Amino acid sequence: MKELIVTGGAGFIGSNFCHWTYNNHPDVHLTVLDALTYAGNRDNLRGIPEDNLTFVHGDICDRELVDRLFSGADGCVHFAAESHNDNSIVAPESFVRTNIGGTYTLLEAARAYDVRFHHISTDEVYGDLALDDPQRFTEESPYHPSSPYSSTKAASDMLVRAWVRTYGVRATISNCSNNYGPYQHVEKFIPRQITNILSGLSPKLYGDGLNVRDWIHVDDHSSAVWTILERGKLGETYLIGADGEKSNLEVLKAILRELDQPEDAFEWVRDRPGHDRRYAIDPSKISAQLEWRPMHVDFEDGLKETIAWYRDNGEWWGAEKEATEERYRRQSQ
Ligand code: NAD
Ligand code: TYD
Repeated sequence: MKELIVTGGAGFIGSNFCHWTYNNHPDVHLTVLDALTYAGNRDNLRGIPEDNLTFVHGDICDRELVDRLFSGADGCVHFAAESHNDNSIVAPESFVRTNIGGTYTLLEAARAYDVRFHHISTDEVYGDLALDDPQRFTEESPYHPSSPYSSTKAASDMLVRAWVRTYGVRATISNCSNNYGPYQHVEKFIPRQITNILSGLSPKLYGDGLNVRDWIHVDDHSSAVWTILERGKLGETYLIGADGEKSNLEVLKAILRELDQPEDAFEWVRDRPGHDRRYAIDPSKISAQLEWRPMHVDFEDGLKETIAWYRDNGEWWGAEKEATEERYRRQSQ
């Protein structure tokens, strides 16, 4: 794999994957295709030399552009998406367009130019689990998406499976749990709470705070994706997780502790409509078949590093913070 297209490479996870690839496989040339929506930031790719990276400012729904890029590529890792549940509840249209229409456009190009395709998806396609359910999600779990975001991701997964079976497109899929780490947009749970405290605002907890998310450090997501590109079996789906189940309240308390705040220094706000209760990934398949292991196994350590990064990089998040909080205020969140 010498010529790799990375869609959504200016976003949180896509840019981490570009840095990871540059650091571990500097012989690969990356072409990032990104529309630079509110969630994309060209600076996230700073430090990767021009010889290793071409940045194309464009839309994954633009068939002509996508065709042109695919005609010279060996592979594509597809991260681009509208990625935030709360936004999808207020304004679902761009989710349908980008997540479904965009994936369709890329698949058609992968078919036309026989490009190896890896589709990045989420565990949220499986819906949610009860807090006391002994089961975790596996590759065999039925699809049960709850939100406009997760339903469009589920639809995109189905398109990939159909293009594999019907047209023989050389594709794999991964469904990963909740990522955390530097460069995550301030609309998401962990960065929102950290930057609220750093800005003198109170952290905001939805519902009863007992919803559980299964956290993985973004570097571990990137290494897992590379492992699948290298050793994954075509047509297969792999779940990626790092045994990181925690309630939102637990995570928030850890953030408050690290920032020397009292444990109760937060506000309860309106719950998210249709809020999924619990996500939990069983990563046995990728660990047994591809011998992938997460490196960041201590969540508290990873969280501390993440908090330090936001403390040191106020200029990175400052501009987006105000607009994001304005959006949340309109939703009473
Ligand atoms: P993000 O919102 O930080 O980044 C998305 C990127 O896609 C941005 O750079 C944006 O400009 C770009 N983009 C959006 N629409 C586009 C379009 N039409 N054409 C080209 N580029 C476009 O998202 P993220 O958190 O980095 O998520 C990346 C992928 O990982 C998504 O597919 C998401 O569903 C999946 N995922 C995310 C998580 C998580 O915890 N964040 C977990 C599992 C899976
Ligand atoms: P989020 O980061 O939006 O990820 P996802 O919806 O994909 O899991 O939210 C993570 C959890 O945190 C989810 O249960 C909703 C909750 N949450 C809050 O309690 N307060 C907040 O301000 C936000 C943004 C999320």
